[in-house]
Amino acid sequence: MTIILAHRGASGTHPENTMEAFIAAEKFGADGIELDVQLTADGEIVVIHDITVDRTTNGSGHIKDLTLNELKNLKANFHYKHFFKKAARIPTLREVFDWMSENDLICNIELKNNSIPYEGLEEKVIAITKEFAFEKRIIISSFNHYSLVYVKKICSDIETAPLYKDLLYKPWEYASSILSNGIHPKLKAVSDSIIKATMEQGIAVRPYTINKERDINRLLSLNCSAIITDYPEKAIRLREKIKKSKRI
Ligand code: G3P
Ligand code: MG
Repeated sequence: MTIILAHRGASGTHPENTMEAFIAAEKFGADGIELDVQLTADGEIVVIHDITVDRTTNGSGHIKDLTLNELKNLKANFHYKHFFKKAARIPTLREVFDWMSENDLICNIELKNNSIPYEGLEEKVIAITKEFAFEKRIIISSFNHYSLVYVKKICSDIETAPLYKDLLYKPWEYASSILSNGIHPKLKAVSDSIIKATMEQGIAVRPYTINKERDINRLLSLNCSAIITDYPEKAIRLREKIKKSKRI
């Protein structure tokens, strides 16, 4: 069965990377969420995509220069007028984990350390994962593949997966070489045959960001390991449809 991961939560309909988007993903029936993490000026792990707060909040500046307190004062739903009355906030990874203690969702944590090399990010993410005993519910991904090897070095129990945007030759061999047993390619970087060959080698394939019905159906029919989508509700509806048609 193809696992459905809600990209930045149910970000097609809710403000990305907020508790509102994660809770909505769970309500829609997603199997898990994807989120992005960075470190604040005072060393807290926060869930936000861009290296600045400019696009998604009413503030400005780099995450690395702002304290958690300063970030918490910002409205993370600034560009979502229908959520405006109830201000959504930038969550910490701890807040997401607290909520995950009450469900059994998978969490794909993307380390946003490809342009800013946040020192200690890997150690902090691993420490909190161990504290919550979430080792089996977490997949760590990143465009920084050195960071993924480092994660494996300090905690071999946690699954990792490289993110990448362009065609890769024999991605299953590359994944194994960096100690990963999954890949997170951009959709255009994988053909049907690459997906099949990779999965045959025991490497999970979880492409992103799959929003079009046609693409969702294509990956579902390939029984692709997982899809990462802004619209978990749509993906689940299509998965149910296929399941039903197989029963008839
Ligand atoms: O993890 C999949 C996807 O989130 C990678 O790209 O830029 O949306 O974080 P981005
Ligand atoms: Mg991401």
